[in-house]
Amino acid sequence: MSLIRVENVKKYFKVRGSLFKKVKAVDGVTFMIKEAETFGVVGETGCGKSTLGRVILRLLKPTAGKVYFMNKDVLKLSGENLKKFRRMAQMVFQDPHSSLNPRMTILEIILEPLKEHGIVVDDPEKYITEHLEIVGLGREHLYRYPHELSGGQKQRVAILRALILRPKFIVLDEPTSALDVSVQAQILNLLKDLQKKFKASYMFISHDLAVVKFMSNRIAVMYLGKFVEIANADELFEKPLHPYAQVLLAAIPIPNPKIARERKKIRIVGEPPSPINPPPGCRFHPRCPYVMDICKREEPPMVEVEPGHYVACWLYARR
Ligand SMILES: Nc1ncnc2c1ncn2[C@@H]1O[C@H](COP(=O)(O)OP(=O)(O)OP(=O)(O)O)[C@@H](O)[C@H]1O
Ligand code: SF4
Ligand SMILES: [Mg+2]
Repeated sequence: MSLIRVENVKKYFKVRGSLFKKVKAVDGVTFMIKEAETFGVVGETGCGKSTLGRVILRLLKPTAGKVYFMNKDVLKLSGENLKKFRRMAQMVFQDPHSSLNPRMTILEIILEPLKEHGIVVDDPEKYITEHLEIVGLGREHLYRYPHELSGGQKQRVAILRALILRPKFIVLDEPTSALDVSVQAQILNLLKDLQKKFKASYMFISHDLAVVKFMSNRIAVMYLGKFVEIANADELFEKPLHPYAQVLLAAIPIPNPKIARERKKIRIVGEPPSPINPPPGCRFHPRCPYVMDICKREEPPMVEVEPGHYVACWLYARR
């Protein structure tokens, strides 16, 4: 069953100093996230990943489109229902240093969301200690301030703060990219364990393909405000169809020499164009080695080429 449905969501930002120019950060994205799955979103910097995450959580108002959470229109929620949504849908940010209030102790940081939602616990110290243990911390951290923790420990606190309300959905926006590689693996494993325990769905955002593959059941590849391919994680890595996905995947080491040889053939050219004035037709066309006339004029539709494997490219769509 789907937990989240996103239909043709767009988010445009005004450009300061110009009446007419807009940054098309997210420009027509449609997908759904199932219960208890991890849906990975991968793409270059600036392609709109964080904006999409914020729109889904109603931290930003979309310019157009719909978001449904458990079949309810998120944009129409108000009062108690909006509060319930805020409780069930959480976010963990990239940088634990700036996402935790430096003037609060860890105990206060974790208790804050409980207070906000009117949840009273009998013995806060005991309750929070038990939860700190779940994320690999302990009683000795209760009265520390964020600056007295390491980066990885801070991110454990941020994860616990998101989890304490038992959400059904968490957007994890590059949750390990600010951490050392050795700590990254620990946090990723912790996130996986917690998912098994609490059965939440994750939207896992990253520019790091290896990390996204490790975490995700399904993956969407994003390019300049749009999804260009959605597939099961294994299938995407074995058989990327969109030329951009092929280029992205070529950048990570592949154990299979046959696939590695085939992938070397395609090279990307040019810089990513600006989301202020994206190219007409297929946005990837100025960089695509397979570009055809139609690509410059018409936007390719997203088609399902195999069950559950979607791609937006004229090489696969009927003209
Ligand atoms: N509040 C804002 N006002 C104006 N433009 C914005 C705003 N937020 C994001 N943008 C622009 O929207 C585009 C998408 O930004 P976003 O942060 O969603 O990208 P991203 O994929 O998360 O990138 P990164 O990997 O660097 O985090 C970028 O061009 C960015 O400059
Ligand atoms: S639609 Fe055309 S330009 Fe775009 S990725 Fe496919 S072949 Fe390349
Ligand atoms: Mg981002």
